[in-house]
Amino acid sequence: MKIIKTIAAMKNAREKLSGTVGFVPTMGYLHEGHMELVRRAKSENQRTIVSIFVNPAQFSPGEDLDSYPRDIPRDMEMLEKVEPDIVFIPSPRGMYPPRFNTWVDVEKVTEHMEGALRPGHFRGVATVCTKLFNIVQPTTAYFGQKDAQQVVTIRKMVADLNMNVEIAVIPTLREPDGLAMSSRNVYLKPDERRAACILYHALKLAEKLWAQGEKDAHRIRQAMIKLIEEEPLAEVIGYVSIAHAETLEELHEIKPPALVSLAVKIGKPRLIDNIVLE
Ligand code: PAF
Repeated sequence: MKIIKTIAAMKNAREKLSGTVGFVPTMGYLHEGHMELVRRAKSENQRTIVSIFVNPAQFSPGEDLDSYPRDIPRDMEMLEKVEPDIVFIPSPRGMYPPRFNTWVDVEKVTEHMEGALRPGHFRGVATVCTKLFNIVQPTTAYFGQKDAQQVVTIRKMVADLNMNVEIAVIPTLREPDGLAMSSRNVYLKPDERRAACILYHALKLAEKLWAQGEKDAHRIRQAMIKLIEEEPLAEVIGYVSIAHAETLEELHEIKPPALVSLAVKIGKPRLIDNIVLE
């Protein structure tokens, strides 16, 4: 497992790799969900590259950029168990040198949900992914379904800009009580951690109502909101959305595949989760 810290060295190492390259972009503070992405990348490619970069461009002012959990030695220990060929850890200055002025803006699919709550977030994600794809030149890049809007945005960017990379999406990995794995779960205090499974319960409720024949998206959203409001530690409902799984336009009548997604603030972090009604 080779650690590379500069863009020049990464490009140089990439030139020497032949065969298919699977790429897992991360912001570090890895969890089992990331490990699953790496395992899948390894099983489908001759070479695997993981990047660790807390991308300042995707944090809005006032968000948790400075306090975002970082622990490279811990990440390395975890990665040693799955053994990617290369771990690329660029610096913020290397990625965004002075007078950096070029941004990738994916329209429409970034307008709602996370995009509405976090202005500029997806511009930062699309820009850093474009840069990482250009540097790493992967055959396939692997993303988790937990960040559903990110997946839709990256797919749209790759299609619209004719990028030469396949996008593979891996199902959300969950704790035994259903909480989706996330680096931000580390912020949860014990009682908040217990309360956090309300997101999963709300999604399961939507799935149950849909399976029972309910097609009215508004009624399902209302039922989910009511359930979440019963949890005293669930402070603010960012959004409860039932949208077309590709355009992310809100639905009145549910036609599959529909993405049911939500953002709920529990204690410090705002947690997100989703399921797809097929
Ligand atoms: O999902 C993440 O961890 C980040 O948004 C990504 C894709 C690594 C870009 O910074």
